[in-house]
Amino acid sequence: MWSLPLNISKRVQNLEYAIRDVVGHARKLEKKGRDVIYLNIGDPLLFDFETPEHVKAALIQAVKDDFNEYSPSEGLPELRDAICEKEKKVGDINVLPENVIVSNGVSEGIQMVLAALVDAGSEILVPGPAYPPYISYTEFFGGKAVLYRTIEEDGWQPDLEDVRAKISDSTRALVVINPNNPCGALYDKKVVKALTDMAGEYAIPVISDEIYNQLAYDELLSTAKVANDVPVIGLNGFSKVYLMTGWRLGYVFFAGQDEQLLEELRDNITKEARIRLSANTPVQKAAISALRGPQTHISSMVKKLRERRDFSYKRLNEIDGISCTEPKGAFYFFPKVEGIGSRWENDMAFVSDLLEHTGIVFVHGSGFGTIYGSGHFRGVFLPPLDVLEKSFDRLDSYMTKKGQ
Ligand SMILES: Cc1ncc(COP(=O)(O)O)c(C=O)c1O
Repeated sequence: MWSLPLNISKRVQNLEYAIRDVVGHARKLEKKGRDVIYLNIGDPLLFDFETPEHVKAALIQAVKDDFNEYSPSEGLPELRDAICEKEKKVGDINVLPENVIVSNGVSEGIQMVLAALVDAGSEILVPGPAYPPYISYTEFFGGKAVLYRTIEEDGWQPDLEDVRAKISDSTRALVVINPNNPCGALYDKKVVKALTDMAGEYAIPVISDEIYNQLAYDELLSTAKVANDVPVIGLNGFSKVYLMTGWRLGYVFFAGQDEQLLEELRDNITKEARIRLSANTPVQKAAISALRGPQTHISSMVKKLRERRDFSYKRLNEIDGISCTEPKGAFYFFPKVEGIGSRWENDMAFVSDLLEHTGIVFVHGSGFGTIYGSGHFRGVFLPPLDVLEKSFDRLDSYMTKKGQ
């Protein structure tokens, strides 16, 4: 006999993804005819950025040429070679093709890596504010995400003392996201070195999420480059830099001196890759073209984004009650709002009230972890200047009204 409600696992019931969870109310307003501006999602393709023509052509060709079967679970050999060439060229690191596993987006890479490292009670050190999947997947696998502080006044650089204080016998990995989502921080070379040295001291592998590594407005150093003998599990992909968000392709790579350590982890993650058969084959073909073909779209993208970053940073700081550190990478701003806890009950109330009054969709800061994210909001500076201008004008008059 059926009985309702069906038993849904606690694991799934507890899942959250603030960046998309905020959209429901916005869609309702839009249905009522309101002009809604979505500044919540980090997808360049929703604005005036397009997948490069040669990459689109390569996908179409791959489908026509019948590359439509499953690929090897680890990914197409030619793509794994191209990824190693790119890692050498961009990050100056040596990765062997057998140490690359192609995934359906970095998201799947995060899931596979954490599944391999987390047991019940394991702890994963994650930068706070945090990109939510690192918290969600860690908890999903029975572990605990321990957020380490990043210092707003210092451009959201990791607080090294806090990291050290939070390392325990249960720590299974230290996550570094550089450039960072949601803060737009770019970590100093010295900080990255200190983090990897600390991981080495306690024999903890580093998970380095480098999805924005070619979208930096200052010098960026790859984690594996400074990590010496500390194993680095790198995560990168095609969504942002190669403008392929909807195609879902990424990769995990293993870098470091200790072959044996890496081999064991890699072989276990490969088992996970086999269970899900393979990544999307024609998209892998297109990714080879993305990596080996013209790269000119990257510099034009960075140029456009830099202009939008400068504009957003200036405008946000001119608004009474808002203060923002300068984003140095990626395409996010993460400003602080004065009056959270008094004028607004919390940052969620701020974001909903702002949406109601202005039609602008931001993500509440606590969606990136309550300890370090509260009192803030995250937006993207992806739209063209006129859209950003309209958004900041609305935010400005909203803040003025609320301040009266
Ligand atoms: C830091 C970070 N890692 C991973 C992802 C997910 O990327 P993908 O589209 O490759 O799954 C994102 C997407 O916003 C991100 O910001």
